Amino acid sequence: MKTFEQRFTVAYQYPVTFCRDLFAADSEVLLQALLRDETDVGPHRVLIVLDRGLEEAQPDLPLRITTWLMAHADQVELAAPIEVIPGGEFAKKQDTAVERLVKLAYQTHFGRKDTFIALGGGAVQDTVGYAAAIIHRGCRMIRVNSTTLAQADAGVGVKNGIDYASGKNFLGTFAVPYAVINDVALLTTLSDKDWRNGIAEAVKVAVIKDAAFLQWIQEHADALRMRDLDAMEYLVQRTAELHLMHIAYNGDPFERGSARPLDFGHWSAHRLESITCWQISHGEAVAVGIALDMLYASLLGMVSGTEATRVIATLQECGLKVWCDELNLRATDGKLAIIEGLRQFREHLGGQLCVTLPRGLGDKTEVHEMNEALLEQAVQLLRERFA
Ligand SMILES: NC(=O)c1ccc[n+]([C@@H]2O[C@H](COP(=O)([O-])OP(=O)(O)OC[C@H]3O[C@@H](n4cnc5c(N)ncnc54)[C@H](O)[C@@H]3O)[C@@H](O)[C@H]2O)c1
Ligand SMILES: [Zn+2]
Repeated sequence: MKTFEQRFTVAYQYPVTFCRDLFAADSEVLLQALLRDETDVGPHRVLIVLDRGLEEAQPDLPLRITTWLMAHADQVELAAPIEVIPGGEFAKKQDTAVERLVKLAYQTHFGRKDTFIALGGGAVQDTVGYAAAIIHRGCRMIRVNSTTLAQADAGVGVKNGIDYASGKNFLGTFAVPYAVINDVALLTTLSDKDWRNGIAEAVKVAVIKDAAFLQWIQEHADALRMRDLDAMEYLVQRTAELHLMHIAYNGDPFERGSARPLDFGHWSAHRLESITCWQISHGEAVAVGIALDMLYASLLGMVSGTEATRVIATLQECGLKVWCDELNLRATDGKLAIIEGLRQFREHLGGQLCVTLPRGLGDKTEVHEMNEALLEQAVQLLRERFA
């Protein structure tokens, strides 16, 4: 027998740029992202994919994009007309969007160094990211995130995916974007619900990593709820920064291990999304999931009752609901229906359950089992005090 112990390391790098008005005549942000690799010979071929919800909210956007492209035609070439795909979870619930993108890439002789530019929310980023990752085993992708949740979280990292049957993100890859651009001005047309969704992910990461940021969110809850763009800009920037630092320095960017600190509050959130047939959005579900796990952690003595209440009140002050009636649902065995979320979470992790819980505010710990009786108590407390 002979074994070669193969080993190599690859260093990844990509810029995450915050700006306002990406397609202003004098804006060079997109050009800088496209021209990252100095060895490329131009012009750069791009396929632009636009979130339909974004297009409907900003009908002048396609014209602004094409005007900007025409002004830079010597360096950027549009391989096909702008492709509009459905926004929201619907984009991920079927494989037709991915298939359309694959077909488009094939028909336009898209190469590995050509670039998908996806403008949209987290669902569109996940969908286009998946298509870009499988075409030619991975072509370039620039994410232009247009929701608070995508700018803070979903669109700055290295994951993509689509749903399969009732399996959320069942298909997907780890793929590093070529560049990420967060145009904060795009956020102004979001619905109130989608405006608030990113705040849930901010509270999530603040609770487990940054007590000072949690304090800041609490102090700016009114401004955030009232749609102050400067406050939201700081919120998404700091949240994205914490996510990026986690991916870069936590030693497990492609999630080979079981710990998932960035999934604090998510085991029940994913379950609530599927129980409600995606009637409740990811951000809304995460707010409920955080509230539940804060109370559970307080019952275990990992945080004080005051700390749990403070986090839950902050979510509410930001306009997020922390209760949904589906928490009451029970399976045929009489257990809470969300409990099945623990099994699914364990399966997704690949064996051992690993749930992140806060240890005080600004720090975290991992547990490998959840006590069902205490969970019942946490749900009851949430219902009685915060429903
Ligand atoms: N890959 C990851 O690491 C990761 C992390 C967290 C969440 N996610 C995924 O992200 C998705 C949620 O993303 P989301 O919260 O961004 O919501 P979303 O992508 O579902 O978008 C919400 C709605 O906003 C619309 N929209 C987008 N931009 C707009 C704008 N500027 N103005 C008006 N409307 C606009 C969309 O069309 C959609 O209807 C979920 O599928 C979740 O699983 C992925
Ligand atoms: Zn999330």
